[in-house]
Amino acid sequence: MCRPLTISLAMASMLSTVVTNTTIAKPASAARSFKAASNAASLRPSVFKLTHNPTLRFEARRGVAMASAGGAETQVQKSEEEWRAILSPEQFRILRQKGTEYPGTGEYNKNKAEGVYNCAGCGTPLYKSTTKFDSGCGWPAFFEGLPGAINETTDADGRRVEITCAACGGHLGHVFRGEGFPTPTDARHCVNSVSLKFTPANKS
Ligand SMILES: *[C@@H]1O[C@H](CO)[C@@H](O)[C@H](O)[C@H]1NC(C)=O
Ligand SMILES: *[C@@H]1O[C@H](CO)[C@@H](O)[C@H](O)[C@H]1NC(C)=O
Repeated sequence: MCRPLTISLAMASMLSTVVTNTTIAKPASAARSFKAASNAASLRPSVFKLTHNPTLRFEARRGVAMASAGGAETQVQKSEEEWRAILSPEQFRILRQKGTEYPGTGEYNKNKAEGVYNCAGCGTPLYKSTTKFDSGCGWPAFFEGLPGAINETTDADGRRVEITCAACGGHLGHVFRGEGFPTPTDARHCVNSVSLKFTPANKS
């Protein structure tokens, strides 16, 4: 476990809560979040209470799905115990403890079927098969994720950029850019198969 969950959740609320009274004084950074949130097309009305204090607290009515500017529609929050109960030990090791599967062993490394790759933790769609390419690296590679589905964080050593599911924070792998792959983005989302659950396209 690395990042304190409370920070992510606070950020999620800031980006996702519908604000109906913007006259309350707030720091400039929060104001930008408000503006971004107001611009999001997917916002839906919700009842909320805004408490202005040094930590800027928002309380959204429970049960209202969160929508955020460019973020995941729904945030999935579970305790470590809950994750352990629903994930296999290998899924837990990789998704929740940021492990890595042994190269060349993953179920989807060579999968060329049409469909969608969802998060193995929470089921959120992450990648379309049309963005998958053979990187030869030993892990499934995608040149882009579905819009807003993937979060990026620089590793502690500052060298690699970690990718996580924007909905549940599950560890997917890393993204590398500018390696010279002949794809539309020249980005390589290097993803553990264990972090993914493939749904084949409906052939009808
Ligand atoms: C918005 O908040 C301000 C400052 O707290 C308050 O004076 C005003 O009455 C509020 N307006 C509405 C519509 O709630
Ligand atoms: C992913 O990033 C978005 C935008 O910054 C944020 O709202 C969301 O909480 C993040 N997801 C997680 C699981 O931290």
